[in-house]
Amino acid sequence: MSRDHTSEMLAPEVVLPPWAQVTDKRRAHIARVTALLDQWAAALELSADERAAWHDVGVLHDALRDASEDELRALTGDRDRPMHILHGPAVAERLSRDGERRRDVLEAIRWHTLGSATWSRTGKALYMADFLEPGRPFSRADRAFLAAHVMTDFDGVFRQVLRTRIEWTVREGKMLFPETADLWNTVR
Ligand SMILES: [Fe+2]
Ligand SMILES: [Fe+2]
Repeated sequence: MSRDHTSEMLAPEVVLPPWAQVTDKRRAHIARVTALLDQWAAALELSADERAAWHDVGVLHDALRDASEDELRALTGDRDRPMHILHGPAVAERLSRDGERRRDVLEAIRWHTLGSATWSRTGKALYMADFLEPGRPFSRADRAFLAAHVMTDFDGVFRQVLRTRIEWTVREGKMLFPETADLWNTVR
């Protein structure tokens, strides 16, 4: 099957591993996140390795998002923390077992829900794309504006995305995890 450059930009090939557990809705989110990362990586003229890393974290980050709680706890060995933060660590664990050795890829996926102060650019790019992808129904104009400025102000947009997500977390009365607070203290 041949595809031209334009169709590739619009619909990047999202090939999930055989162990992935995602609904159709989740798959569409994954495709949008990956498309945004591919777009930024091309505009920033990243090296082939970094481009591949950004693409792969987009494809894989939510690969176990719809797995059962039992499976996620078995994979991570985590009996205590809330289920919604376990799919990143579970995918990282699964990928490591399969021989994935790129540290920035594993750490980006492992921490994509909470953030991590140890992140390289790959983790930050995924965190932004996950939030700024155009399919989310809220603050569309603000998020599109931020997505368009990642190329010219990567760190500024990252700080703003993190701030927005933390503000929402606090406003909703949800738990703020120490990893997120540590990350904020490195960029504020
Ligand atoms: Fe996720
Ligand atoms: Fe996601």
